[in-house]
Amino acid sequence: MKFIDLFSGLGGFHVGLSKHGHQCVFSCELDESLRELYKINHDIVPHDDIRTVKEDEIPEHDILCAGFPCQPFSLAGKKKGAKCPDSGKLIDHVLRIVQYHQPKYIFLENVPNVITIEDGAFWDYLKNSFESLNYRLEYKIISPTDIGIPQNRKRVFIVGKRNDLVKAFEWPKLKNAKKNDFQKLLNDNFEHKKLEPQKVQLLEKWQELLDVLNLEEITGVSIVAPEFGADYPLDFSNLTLEEIKKYKGAYGKELKNCKNWDEVLSFMPSYTKKNFRVASWITKSIIYSRGLYKENTKACEEWKIGFHFTNNSWQILEWRGLRNNPNIFNHLVQFRASGIRILKSNIAPSLIAMTPTQIPVIPSQNRYVSTQEAAKLQYLHKLKALPNDRKAAFKALGNAVNAKIVELISYNLV
Ligand SMILES: C[S@@+](CC[C@H](N)C(=O)[O-])C[C@H]1O[C@@H](n2cnc3c(N)ncnc32)[C@H](O)[C@@H]1O
Repeated sequence: MKFIDLFSGLGGFHVGLSKHGHQCVFSCELDESLRELYKINHDIVPHDDIRTVKEDEIPEHDILCAGFPCQPFSLAGKKKGAKCPDSGKLIDHVLRIVQYHQPKYIFLENVPNVITIEDGAFWDYLKNSFESLNYRLEYKIISPTDIGIPQNRKRVFIVGKRNDLVKAFEWPKLKNAKKNDFQKLLNDNFEHKKLEPQKVQLLEKWQELLDVLNLEEITGVSIVAPEFGADYPLDFSNLTLEEIKKYKGAYGKELKNCKNWDEVLSFMPSYTKKNFRVASWITKSIIYSRGLYKENTKACEEWKIGFHFTNNSWQILEWRGLRNNPNIFNHLVQFRASGIRILKSNIAPSLIAMTPTQIPVIPSQNRYVSTQEAAKLQYLHKLKALPNDRKAAFKALGNAVNAKIVELISYNLV
């Protein structure tokens, strides 16, 4: 069949559909460098802005693919949805192309949030708009982990079938996919970036703590270092200056000599400063960390003497790893705004486009995941070219649709 690839990026749809011999007849992509790569990888020069594409310039096609920009729908993108004038409304350009060409199938991908955003209003809009154009939409949330690729990345795949097609569309069966370990996909011969020495020291310092605590199991969500020695009330918004002075702030700093609230706040942990109380997302971890401190006061006091890192997010160790294996170096690490996140080593976290700061780290090798390894997680490793710049490559891969999921779904587009 013939297909078109709208918002084509690196061409995840292209790679997946080509596996069945389908032929791409048109694509469009706003980003110039991605257009150049598309030419190298897929031998098609994409049109630029979808808003300037005339329907009759697009060749006839059977499948319309569109990974419309997800930023307005992702949790991080402030949930603006279709109200977002720049991106949310881009789907209307897909609708006008569908109205003109009436392809057999529509194939969309986005973050799962598109289904629930604004109480389902955007999804209703999508479904009803396509229905009025004679299509029935179905969706399924699929992660690469469901098909044996070790990346946690839930995305919604939406397939629309033209109403006159007789054969029912079926989603691929995903159960019993062979599990592949991310560690087996690593190859330190690929070009990679070393972890900065300061971050190596940071991880070693945190491991020193885990070693002295000698925990059989990490039962809390996060270990929050500023709570070692602190005893301020979790909500101090109603206290007077005299009352708060009886307590100890971050790392057990005495507040008794503070002359005003500005001074008090300078001794308090960052997560209390906005509302004069502990933010709810971290409350349980604070209680857990104070408990650890109480039971291991001497060890925690000794450890904190050598902990000189001032970056707020480096003072929190978010444990999403194996509970009974408190060794950072047996895990993956992500430096996030909320803390240093420790993840199980067998599955990579979702590649994301919004920020290059969260590229996963392999601490046992003191390095970041390489672009080639990331490309494997998206099943785009056979592309001839990726962006040369590492950050741009991760951004493009984080934007892309997983080509293997596309391939599996499109078995049933017949
Ligand atoms: C979620 S990504 C889709 C990625 C693609 N499916 C892939 O496999 O790489 C959305 C893409 O839409 C592009 N885009 C944003 N606004 C656009 C517009 N007005 N016209 C065409 N492309 C646009 C972005 O540059 C981005 O590459």
